[in-house]
Amino acid sequence: MKAKFKNPRAKHDFQGRTCSITGVGSYVPEKILTNADLEKTVETSDEWITTRTGIKERRIAAKEEFTSDMAAKAAQRAMKMAGVAASQVDLIIVATITPDMPFPATACLVQQKIGAKRTAAFDLEAACSGFIYGLEIGQQFIMSRTYDTVLVIGAEKLSSITDWSDRNTCVLFGDGAGAAVLQNRENSHGLLTAVMGADGAKAGLLSMPGGGSARPATADSVAAKLHFLRMDGKETFKNAVQAMQSAAQEVLKRCEIDISKIKCVIPHQANQRIIDVVGERLGATPEQLFVNLHKYGNTSAASVAIALDEAVAAKRIQRGDLVLLVVFGAGLTWGAAVIEW
Ligand code: ACO
Repeated sequence: MKAKFKNPRAKHDFQGRTCSITGVGSYVPEKILTNADLEKTVETSDEWITTRTGIKERRIAAKEEFTSDMAAKAAQRAMKMAGVAASQVDLIIVATITPDMPFPATACLVQQKIGAKRTAAFDLEAACSGFIYGLEIGQQFIMSRTYDTVLVIGAEKLSSITDWSDRNTCVLFGDGAGAAVLQNRENSHGLLTAVMGADGAKAGLLSMPGGGSARPATADSVAAKLHFLRMDGKETFKNAVQAMQSAAQEVLKRCEIDISKIKCVIPHQANQRIIDVVGERLGATPEQLFVNLHKYGNTSAASVAIALDEAVAAKRIQRGDLVLLVVFGAGLTWGAAVIEW
């Protein structure tokens, strides 16, 4: 029988080793902030937000609930599904642009919160593309036989870097976390291929200018609102469509898979119009596209991680199905991955 796809890993001598996703999990905070709530604080409307973005509500973390808390909860759910104890985890990667603090790494705080000891732990910063960057990096450690069990988490408390008086951005973002357990398996299902890309020439389109070595926190930097996220929405939109389309096409080409063979396409959840255009350009049907943007807004690195968990829970993805993840974010960064579930 002809294989349903070309496995790009076959050209390497991995001796049957596979990087499988053995568990997924997610967590979103309890508090819901609706478009109607935002109408009371900035000059906006449910109609504008819904038609321009597709977002209806988003989750907001409690004051004392940090990125590491949400990450740990998502991780524990993924570990439960995988049947993995904290003592088995070799490496924790947390993708985030809203770490609890600049250092130590949020991944170290998560290690302590989930009760893992002596794992390697680091944060990775690729904005909304972070979860796919994390999957690809985690896979490298597994396929090279360095580690057997890697926890990849995308987690954000974007409400902490949102200017709640700026209607251009405050309606777009939300908080949450999603996680995946990667494990070595022999001749099994798993991550088939992934691409990652970046274009630092367009770094200014989407950034938080303050708080780093370029503009450390001062009374002036706070007054100038440099510690909030800024975005040129229109240019970001155009770049997102183009980069997501080409990254997705690249991974499909590598696997010699036609889009019709993909059971579920999980795009970064930033804007329904971006999802629609990318889906259309890839030739995906609306039924193939997984969308939960209306419930959570853009949760950056957590976005596709939460969506993957929800797609699995809703049985939109079953064992053996092919899944396409495609992301875009600040940097600029982008990425795509094909998984045989
Ligand atoms: N309510 C009402 N009006 C608003 C709002 C609002 N919340 N926000 C903006 N407007 C107004 C603007 O002021 C503008 O008014 P003007 O014409 O009088 O100047 C008008 O609406 C149109 O604004 P545009 O910026 O042209 O709106 P657009 O259709 O481009 O939508 C949006 C804006 C939603 C931000 C869109 O550009 C977008 O989604 N961009 C991409 C975001 C993205 O992909 N981010 C991914 C990465 S995120 C990360 O890495 C963390």
